[in-house]
Amino acid sequence: MSAALEVIDVSLSFGGVRAVDHCSLKVEAGSITGLIGPNGAGKTTLFNIIAGLYRPDAGRILLDGEDITGLPAHVLFHRGLVRTFQIPHAFTSMTALENLMVVPPHQPGESLLATWFRPSLVRDREAEVRARAREVLDFLNLSHVMHEAAGNLSGGQKKLLELGRTMMTEARIVLLDEIAAGVNRTLLKELLAAIRRLNREADYTFFVIEHDMDMIGALCDPVICMVRGRVLRTGTLAELRKDPRVIEAYFGGDPMGEPHAVSLEAAAKESAPSAAPGTQREGRA
Ligand SMILES: Nc1ncnc2c1ncn2[C@@H]1O[C@H](COP(=O)(O)OP(=O)(O)O)[C@@H](O)[C@H]1O
Ligand SMILES: [Mg+2]
Repeated sequence: MSAALEVIDVSLSFGGVRAVDHCSLKVEAGSITGLIGPNGAGKTTLFNIIAGLYRPDAGRILLDGEDITGLPAHVLFHRGLVRTFQIPHAFTSMTALENLMVVPPHQPGESLLATWFRPSLVRDREAEVRARAREVLDFLNLSHVMHEAAGNLSGGQKKLLELGRTMMTEARIVLLDEIAAGVNRTLLKELLAAIRRLNREADYTFFVIEHDMDMIGALCDPVICMVRGRVLRTGTLAELRKDPRVIEAYFGGDPMGEPHAVSLEAAAKESAPSAAPGTQREGRA
């Protein structure tokens, strides 16, 4: 396997907080790689750097061996690197089908000239997008809620729909940040099955931040444990559960337990003079 994604010695600070600190890791093409670690370890910040929402202070990100450091999210999106987001509030009154149809692929309909000269092209394209959206809903077992407003879907159905939005693009590597949170067990199984099928049948590579150990165990190999902004250990979940450093940092001394609620964020705040809110950097896209 080759690396779909490579993070090389990446750092980013917010005010005095070093959220990501000389972090290096690889996500192999075709893998479902997990990312775990205590709250405040820097997982979400790392995802935001990879997806082009933040530019790192130092280090490089490679996508299929090509340097993508600092490229904006919409450019990465068109290169197949997609981070799922909650359905935007403005989209909650649209139906599930419409939510998929508005995901921007390379639509000739957006070009005024194409519309002017070849209206049939736009009609064909819309029919194509609609057909694709129906296929995606079918794949995700969401066809029965196709005409339901997205805001009326259950938490788990919304997550499936978010995953569906990536399927409307040319996605090759998908970043998922704690999508299991608040999803009931039945739909969680469907979500896992959909991720596995996308991995096996559609060659999606996944990079998954998750607190839910059942989900990590069922889905991810390898698993990367991040602590204080850098990688502590990479291995199978079983290997990580045996590593005293991982147990200490993440499992609170009980390797079979759920992650304890240690907050490095809180620890950092206690030990460092607190930065005034104004000095903290907001997302600098
Ligand atoms: N936009 C931001 N502004 C200031 N500090 C931030 C911002 N985002 C994250 N942080 C800080 O960076 C550290 C890492 O946070 P985060 O990446 O969210 O960790 P995780 O996802 O592992 O819980 C924390 O101390 C957090 O408070
Ligand atoms: Mg996070």
